[in-house]
This record gives sequence, structure tokens and C-alpha cells, in this order.
Amino acid sequence: MSTVAVILAAGLGTRMKSRLPKVLHPILGDPSLLWVLRALPANLAGAVVVIHHGKEQVLAALAAWQVAGLLPCPVTTVDQGEPLGTGHAVQVCIPELDRLGTTRVVILCGDVPLTEPTTVARLCGAEALLLAMDLPTPGSYGRVLQHADGRLAGVVEAKDASPDQLKVSRVNGGAYALPWPALREALLGLRNDNAQREYYLTDAVAAVGAELAVAVVCCDPEELAGMNSRQDQAALQAAAQRRIQQHWMTEGVTFLHPDSTLVGPRVQLEQDVLLEPGVRLEGAVRIGRDCRIGQGSVIVDSVLGEDVVVRPYCVIERTMAGSGCRIGPFARLREGTELAESVHVGNFVETKKAKLHRGAKANHLAYLGDTEIGEGTNIGAGVITCNYDGVHKHRTTIGRKVFVGSDSQLVAPVTIGDGALIGAGSTITQDVPADALALSRTAQSNREGSATRFRSRQKDRTGVD
Ligand code: UD1
Ligand code: MG
Repeated sequence: MSTVAVILAAGLGTRMKSRLPKVLHPILGDPSLLWVLRALPANLAGAVVVIHHGKEQVLAALAAWQVAGLLPCPVTTVDQGEPLGTGHAVQVCIPELDRLGTTRVVILCGDVPLTEPTTVARLCGAEALLLAMDLPTPGSYGRVLQHADGRLAGVVEAKDASPDQLKVSRVNGGAYALPWPALREALLGLRNDNAQREYYLTDAVAAVGAELAVAVVCCDPEELAGMNSRQDQAALQAAAQRRIQQHWMTEGVTFLHPDSTLVGPRVQLEQDVLLEPGVRLEGAVRIGRDCRIGQGSVIVDSVLGEDVVVRPYCVIERTMAGSGCRIGPFARLREGTELAESVHVGNFVETKKAKLHRGAKANHLAYLGDTEIGEGTNIGAGVITCNYDGVHKHRTTIGRKVFVGSDSQLVAPVTIGDGALIGAGSTITQDVPADALALSRTAQSNREGSATRFRSRQKDRTGVD
């Protein structure tokens, strides 16, 4: 048995009014098509994505997801050419499905992101099944017609339906499981003599239903809701958010203000995590026990250990932070930041490709890029690693228990030995040996009484005291 998924994603998505193909529009940070692919079970022989409009963008996205290991099974694509309907979309897959030795196909739409993996698994395990939903206002959906015993009798598109058929509230969700030989046969006989002059997949499904029993299974309409407009996108995002938050609340996570908090589908939260209002967690994020994430903070593709406090308004991307770290407020941790345990990174500190060992501190106003900072080292306020000479990036290596005085510039490449002390305001252009004191600033001169004389001259000139 070789089950292959076909994902329909060639449509233009006119109502989105966008240059981005519809299936790449995000729901909580992950594109709709990625939601669909990630819901597939790992034991599928493969998935074939039917593309056309915006295909370069879709191909680039698929390649990136492949590299990131986000795809559960092998994925190939077929270009539909000018889309002539959902039936045509599957017709163009015939050679690819034959090549894959397909015995059964599962068909899903790339713009229906919230179908639960359990529902998709049920579809993948079924012989012949159509997913339907009961809607009080069935609108433009295809109406599902059933025999007395519940088997599928046909699907009529709203535009082709009689007034009586339009009253049917059970509608087609556009997701199917069917034996490939039977569907293949039916696809070859499709015609487009209907209201939309399209090759309807639903006609092929009905033709299969005439030969063998196709079950109709109803599920939660939220799972089959499609994204056709920005309104749909907002509604889907709200639905996904509610679902994800309910899950994490059950697992012991506190949301101080759920309505303003966004947690993506690939986020993992441990017990007693607390999320303050306005937090956004996107991509692959893992947050350990007892962490508190401050108001307005954004965390993307990052891992935090246990008991990390992120104070309000931090932006953290592609960062690893060990347990007990204290971050922010207003810190910006960029790609390749690694904080070991109990590191403190305070307000207005930016880090990039910076590895801070255990207990290191940079509490105020600093730029730390392309650098390694040893255990227990203290970086003073206003310290800058000058890592860029206009052409190349260079590294700054700072040893253990170093004290870098405030407002110092470390001009890379440069190495500071363990236990060194750098006087405030120094511009360090040469390596500093271990336990040395480095100072580079002009000597101070004090002129006694000069301030008083200066002020009295000012008063004589302006008359103001
Ligand atoms: C389709 C069903 C309808 C069902 C509804 C559920 C048909 C004829 N009708 O209607 O019964 O209630 O889905 O949402 O199938 N696509 C292609 N190539 C094409 C046409 C469409 O890839 O040539 C893709 C679209 O990008 C989309 C999906 O197929 O992802 C569904 O197409 P859409 O036009 O939205 O289907 P509907 O007409 O709404
Ligand atoms: Mg249509």
C-alpha cells in the first residue's frame, strides 16, 4: 500500500490581493502550506504539491523547509500550467503519481491550514472518504449529496446547484482519500461542461462514488476553513491561536493576556512558563520551566533553558540561552548568540554571534558581535566590539574574569587575556595579556579656578548670572 498526498496549491488567490502566493501567507508565522505539510503522517510514500502561480516563491519555500527538516515525508512538485480547475490540478499529477507507485491518494488544499494531524491521519488510513462539514450558511461550498446509507452520491458546486440542492447544509471540505486506480480512471473522463467551465475534482470523486462506497465524515468546520481573503487569514489566525493557547494552558503555562499573545505552532513551552501581554513566539522556539517572558518581547527560532527571565521589550532571534539568564529590558539578541548559564544581558545591549560563558554580564548599552566572552567577565556600559573594518568581520576574544571598563572600544581582531582590566574609555587595538591593566586615553589635566573665571566672563558679557 503506497499512499501519496496531493496538495492543491496552484490557485492565484485573487482575493488576497497580494504578490505573495496565497499558500505562503502565514498563520502565526508559519505559511499555510507548511501547516498542511506538517500535518501529514511520516509514513506517507510522498507528497506532491501542485503549483503554478508564484511557483518560484513556493519552490524556494519548499527548499528552505526541506533544509530545515520541517517536511515529514518526501515532497515533489508538479506545475499545473494555467489552472483549469481542481480536477485538472490532479490530472496533471498522473505521471508523478504513477511514478511513485501510488495505490491510494489523499487530496488536501494548501490553503486549508488548520486540519488536525489526527484528522489527516484518519484520512490517510481510509479506503475512500470525503471530509464534510455542516454549515448553517453553506454559501459557495459544494453541496454533498448522500445515499440513504450515508455513502457519497455526488457533490454539486453551488454555482451549478438547483434551489433544492442549495438548501443542503452538508458541504464538501475539499479533502479526500481515494484508491488511485479508480480516481485515475475517473479523472481521464472529466469534462468541463459546467457553470465555471472548470474540470471539477468533485465530478471525479462522484464518479468513484458510483463504483465503490465513499464514506462521508463530518468534522469541525474550523478544521476545513480555507484562507481566501485577509479576513479569512485573520479568522484562521485567531482560531489557531485559541487552540494553541488552550493546549499550553492545559500543560501549565500562564498567559497574562491571551488576546495579545501569539504563540506559533512549532513553539514548545514547559510547565510554569509565564507569558506577559503582547509576547510573540515564532518558528522553532523552546522555553524551559519557570521562564518569564516580559511584555512586548519577540522570540524567534530560539531556545531558553529553565528559569530565564526576559524582561519587557526584548527581541531574541536564533539564540540559545542557558538556565538562570537575565535578559533585558530592551535587549536585542541576534543570530548566533549563545548565553551559558546565569548570564546577564541588560538594557540596550545588542549581541550577534556572541558566546558569553557562565555568569558573564553585559548590563547596559553595548554591542557585542563576533565575540567570545569568558566566565564571570564584566562588560561595562557602552562597550563596543568594533568587529567590522568596512570589508571584513573580525573576532574579539575576551578571557575569564576580565573587567572591561565603560565606554571602551575593542577593535577586532583582538584578544584580552584572563583577569585583565581595561580602564574606562579605552580604545583597545592590541592584545592585552592576562592580568594586565590596559589603559588608552589622554591624561587628564585640571586647571584650578578656571571654571569660576569662565563663568564670570560669561556674566560680564550677557548680564545673566
Ligand atoms: C472546492 C470544491 C468544493 C468545496 C471547496 C472546499 C471543486 C470543484 N469544488 O471549491 O466542492 O466545497 O473546494 O473548499 O473542487 N486549485 C488548483 N488548481 C486549480 C484550481 C484550484 O491548484 O486549477 C487549488 C486552489 O489553489 C485551492 C484549492 O485547489 O488551494 C481549491 O480550489 P478553489 O478554487 O478554492 O475551490 P472551490 O471552487 O472553492
Ligand atoms: Mg474555485
